[in-house]
Amino acid sequence: MFTANSNRYAEMKYRRCGQSGVLLPAISLGFWHNFGNVTSEEQSRAIVRAAFDSGITHFDLANNYGPDPGAAEKLLGKFLHDDFRTYRDELFISTKAAYDMWDGPYGSWASRKHMMASLDQSLRRLRLDYVDLFYCHRFDPNTPLEETLQTLVDVVRQGKALYVGISRWPLEAAGISYQYLRQHDVQCLIYQGRLNLFDQAPKSEGILSQAAENGIGFISFSPLAQGLLTDRYLNGIPADSRMARDPRFLHADMLTPQVLDRIRGLGEIAARRGESLASMALSWILHHKEVTSVIIGASSPEQLHRNLAALNSPAFTDEELQDIEKVKE
Ligand SMILES: NC(=O)c1ccc[n+]([C@@H]2O[C@H](COP(=O)([O-])OP(=O)(O)OC[C@H]3O[C@@H](n4cnc5c(N)ncnc54)[C@H](OP(=O)(O)O)[C@@H]3O)[C@@H](O)[C@H]2O)c1
Repeated sequence: MFTANSNRYAEMKYRRCGQSGVLLPAISLGFWHNFGNVTSEEQSRAIVRAAFDSGITHFDLANNYGPDPGAAEKLLGKFLHDDFRTYRDELFISTKAAYDMWDGPYGSWASRKHMMASLDQSLRRLRLDYVDLFYCHRFDPNTPLEETLQTLVDVVRQGKALYVGISRWPLEAAGISYQYLRQHDVQCLIYQGRLNLFDQAPKSEGILSQAAENGIGFISFSPLAQGLLTDRYLNGIPADSRMARDPRFLHADMLTPQVLDRIRGLGEIAARRGESLASMALSWILHHKEVTSVIIGASSPEQLHRNLAALNSPAFTDEELQDIEKVKE
């Protein structure tokens, strides 16, 4: 039986999610990789325990995380049962639906049919009565917005989710969703998007400021650009890395000489600040006041612990921020 570190809340920083009552850890843990059928269960369990022991109360999942789809939720369901039964109310668990999950016309996208069935499946795999947060994982251009949004309202009314959120939605649809949900007395808690040193789209497209203006939190996924924004690939592609083991979303051809130059340039700025590139990459995201949390991935407890250094990063000087902008270009 797992007994959590009694000092687990000492170091983590908690940030208010938009104008809600919810505090999320500045660093959250994602289950996209490292929690599927290809990873050792003991390693996955060690990562989850290390996270909780470090004050990471927010675990981010989706119906399709694995591989195979559903495997990550199933594994967390097992860990919740074995290790975290007495800690459920200390955890904030999210899941999502709308990416491809099962065969046929109802296995994907954002119809009421898919979203309702998918959430029921997720709850069974997670062995939970409710999730804290349920997301529509992507915008569906072929389903009426009101159908998707009313489904989000209804899952809250049914008690299957406490809050709802959207991920990767375009600006205009996001604005409509905030308004619709507010009018139906359901809180859109958070927008999940990719913001990192290599990808500032949520900033330039206005997603970040729109969320803040609406009292909605923002949480950044892939904050380390899947490991590129670390020292992982500076000397080739390690055999145990994501790029070598599971190149579905991170390919060797993304590691161009130009990208490597930018990684080295950013690494030099981080070194001048007395921290690792990973730590600077996370703290750069967190220095945006609109951001609630970053969702890191980790393939070992050691990586996770190294990334927690971002909690104690020094504040950025204007000069450092300008230097970072120059390297990013
Ligand atoms: N909403 C969406 O559509 C969406 C999309 C993507 C992700 N997400 C969410 O965001 C979460 C995080 O995504 P991500 O895994 O791409 O995040 P990430 O933090 O950018 O990348 C994590 C990977 O970077 C490497 N890494 C981490 N710390 C390191 C360190 N200190 N030194 C060297 N390498 C390090 C590890 O790869 P190795 O395996 O090589 O060790 C790790 O698995 C997901 O789990 C998911 O919850 C959401």
